[in-house]
Amino acid sequence: MIMKKLLVFNWKMNPSSVKEAEEIFEIYQNQVGKTKREIKTIIAPSFVHLSSLKKKKNQNNIFFASQDVFWLNRGAYTGEISPVMLKDLKVEYVIIGHSERRRYFQEDELMINRKIRAVLSNGLKVILCIGEKERRKKELTANFRIKKIIFDQLNYALQGINIKKGGDLIIAYEPLWAIGSGLAESPESAQEIIILIHEWLKRRFAEKSFKTFPVLYGGSVNGHNLVSYLKVKEIDGVLVGGASTKKIEIIKIFSQLKNKS
Ligand code: PGA
Repeated sequence: MIMKKLLVFNWKMNPSSVKEAEEIFEIYQNQVGKTKREIKTIIAPSFVHLSSLKKKKNQNNIFFASQDVFWLNRGAYTGEISPVMLKDLKVEYVIIGHSERRRYFQEDELMINRKIRAVLSNGLKVILCIGEKERRKKELTANFRIKKIIFDQLNYALQGINIKKGGDLIIAYEPLWAIGSGLAESPESAQEIIILIHEWLKRRFAEKSFKTFPVLYGGSVNGHNLVSYLKVKEIDGVLVGGASTKKIEIIKIFSQLKNKS
């Protein structure tokens, strides 16, 4: 039995037109409408498609995320999008620290920390991406090196940050080598790390009434392997990238949710 899980779809820099974005979104709406299972679907389209998709939305169970944000609310920051603008568009979630932002735009821990603060102080929810760059030959999943990388990323990103509600933070564990490579982490290995992340969060937010936060797995998730992650108790959902704008994959993903219990 799959309990209520979160499915986050990161469309990245796809598709190229509003028309295509609307067509893809229509497939999501149809599929979500037919799904009886307890899932929450969060879609992160490009900034330029957010507003037209928002107008088309007819499913309560679909929520919007942005793929990034700037850390200040207004001002002379050419090209940037502020949390206030996202809030005005009724975006609820913001992906922060995606590995592609870290890699191509030199986003560092300080920027990520600032973005998290800005998002939370505007009443939006954070989807924080973390994960190690590589997996060495014969390396055991939860060894000291990997644990250190993951815990350091959490420490820096969440330094000094006060979370008021359990729903305000989602962690996406995405080993970089698994993103867009077709080499998904096995559900068992992902589970090992995700258990560690849950433990870290419990310790870090020990004084809070909520015990932990949702922790997702991301990296080459598709219609074929999705259920193997959702079956794992500690994995609270998945972050899907490349497959999320492919019509056939979207249908496959949702049909998996209908078939397996
Ligand atoms: P992928 O991307 O599913 O294409 O590996 C994951 C992501 O965007 O984080």
